[in-house]
Amino acid sequence: MWQYFNETPLVRLERLSDSFHLQLYGKIEIMNPTGSHKDRESIMVVSDAIKQGFSEVGCASTGNAAISISAYAYISGLKCDIYVSKNMNSEKMALIKMFKPNIHVIEGDYSEAIEVSNRDFKEKEVYNANPGQCSAKLRGNAEIGKEIAQQISPNYVICPTNNGTHFTGVWTGLKEAGKKPRMIAATAQKTEIADSIQGFHRIEGKTFDEALNESNGIIVDVSDDEIIQALRMLYKEGIVAEPASAASIATIQHLEYDKDEIVCCTITGSGLKFPKLIEKII
Ligand SMILES: Cc1ncc(COP(=O)(O)O)c(C=O)c1O
Repeated sequence: MWQYFNETPLVRLERLSDSFHLQLYGKIEIMNPTGSHKDRESIMVVSDAIKQGFSEVGCASTGNAAISISAYAYISGLKCDIYVSKNMNSEKMALIKMFKPNIHVIEGDYSEAIEVSNRDFKEKEVYNANPGQCSAKLRGNAEIGKEIAQQISPNYVICPTNNGTHFTGVWTGLKEAGKKPRMIAATAQKTEIADSIQGFHRIEGKTFDEALNESNGIIVDVSDDEIIQALRMLYKEGIVAEPASAASIATIQHLEYDKDEIVCCTITGSGLKFPKLIEKII
C-alpha cells in the first residue's frame, strides 16, 4: 500500500556547520507526502487500525497530525475524526478540509481537544491516535531514528517537541540501532509563531521522561526571535521550514559542545504549507 514511500534525506547543512563549527545534519522530514514527520506516524496508525479491524480513526491536533492522518485515512478508505481548537490557523484548516474528515471544532485550546476526543473515541469505538494513547505513532518516529543511525553516529539529536511523541520515538529507533546520542528536546513554550509546538504539553509523560533520562538529554526552550533567526538560516540552506521545525536549529546556540561534534536536527514540518504565515513572520 505504501510502496511510494521512501526514506527522507539526511543532509549536511554546510553554512550552519561552518558558522557553529559543528558537523551539522538535518533529517528532512518535510519531504514526506503531506510535508511533515506526522506521515511516519500516520502510516503506522492506519496500518494498525486496519489490522485491529477499526473502520474509523481519530486524533486531536495542532494541525500537521490532522492534515496527515486525514490524508492517510482518506486513501485507505477509513473514516476520520479530527478535533481542533477554534483558534486553529486558517491555512491549516483549509488543508485538513481537503481530505474530508469529520471536523470537531472545540471552544477551548488543544488540551481540551485532547480531553474531549479521548472521551469520544472511547464511547464510539474510534481508533485513538492521540499522543499518549498510541504506540503505533512512537513506532513511526522510531523509523526516523533508525534511518539517522544508518548514516551517522551523532553526539546530539535535536527534536522540536510538544507532546514528546516524536522525541521519544526517535530515541527508541536510535537506541534499537545501537546509537546513544544525547537527546535535546527543543520547546517553545511561550511562542506566538510556532503553533505546532506551542505550550510543551508533554503528553507522552513517563515514556518521554524515560527517554530524556536514558539519553542524558535536556529540554531547551527557545524564543520567537531565535526561531525566526533559525528559519532564515535554514532558507539559506535551501530549506523552507515551518517555525516549529526551526526550533531544533534555534537550540544549537544554547548547547555546550566540542568543535566538529556531530549534531542532527530533525526538520519536522514544511513552511510551504503555510505561505501566509511565513510571509507574515519573515
Ligand atoms: C512540525 C512539528 N514539529 C514537531 C512537533 C512536535 O511533535 P510531538 O508533539 O510529538 O512532540 C509537531 C507536533 O505537532 C509538529 O507539527
